[in-house]
Amino acid sequence: MTHTFTRKPPIIIAHRGASGYRPEHTLAAYELAINLGADYIEPDLVSTKDGILIARHENEISETSDIANHAEFAHRQTTKIIDGESKTGWFTEDFTLMELKTLRATERIPEMRSQNTPYNGLWEIPTLQEIIDLAKDKSAQIGRTIGIYPETKHPTYFKSLGLALEAPLLATLAANGYQGANAPVFIQSFEVSNLQDLAKQTDLPLVQLLNDKGKPYDFVVSDDHRTYADLATVSGLKDIAKYAQAVGVNKNLVIPRDRTGKLLSPTSLVRNAHAAGLQVHLWTFRNEDYFLPLDFLGNPQGEYKLFLNLGIDGVFSDYPDTAVAVGECMN
Ligand code: G3P
Ligand code: CA
Repeated sequence: MTHTFTRKPPIIIAHRGASGYRPEHTLAAYELAINLGADYIEPDLVSTKDGILIARHENEISETSDIANHAEFAHRQTTKIIDGESKTGWFTEDFTLMELKTLRATERIPEMRSQNTPYNGLWEIPTLQEIIDLAKDKSAQIGRTIGIYPETKHPTYFKSLGLALEAPLLATLAANGYQGANAPVFIQSFEVSNLQDLAKQTDLPLVQLLNDKGKPYDFVVSDDHRTYADLATVSGLKDIAKYAQAVGVNKNLVIPRDRTGKLLSPTSLVRNAHAAGLQVHLWTFRNEDYFLPLDFLGNPQGEYKLFLNLGIDGVFSDYPDTAVAVGECMN
């Protein structure tokens, strides 16, 4: 495995847990990911009404929980504008942790991941603290440090509600002994200003997420003209390096696809990010043909190999065992 920025083998980040095998963002998904060899587990974080951080990809939870079956919460279904988009359902910020703990997680894409549907209704929505406890317990059990890779979801929105994510995140990490640039933690955000603020408050590694379209929502609010494409330029990456240690990149920005889904030539993003002093972690690697480029249908291993040969420093994967197996055969 050559030319990573870290000079170490790429890290394997279990994307929302081993979410190819278990409903995402459950302790069972995270535990399986660790058992399958992941180095880091990734909780996306939103806030409850009482300010507790929990793992959900969205604050609207009808797609990944059984809340629609809870008659006692029916009257709390509502419509809100989240980051400029209208969403209808039930929102974590309208429920206390105690209320949310009465729900059970469900599979997000049952039509594609029917293997996960037998687990519907089994597991709670976990808190960040419970995820950290799991990582620490498993690290001690297996003798291998498991890192935490939390993402602040909709930070501008939660701040506007008086439920800012950053303070409880830093407090929870500090209370659990995570400190300094070498701690097994990466804090990520699709927004910029909350990472810049975090950089003033912590030495923990920070990750600027870059999508293949659009712009950070805090730039929408502040009328900043820059897009993710601007942030991914040589000068944009140099600016990111002033407050972050890594970029978490949509893999289409590294090897774009044509309209038919076939891969094109790699861009210079990995080289430019490394030159700016940034690690590069790519998302999201999944085994299903639906997500794979045409070039690698039925061959997710081939996709990993192509990207790993570019010297990337980490992969977000729904199937960490596949990532581990490819990494081992390339070492
Ligand atoms: O956090 C980066 C990666 O997880 C992709 O984003 O939408 O799955 O949270 P998302
Ligand atoms: Ca994420």
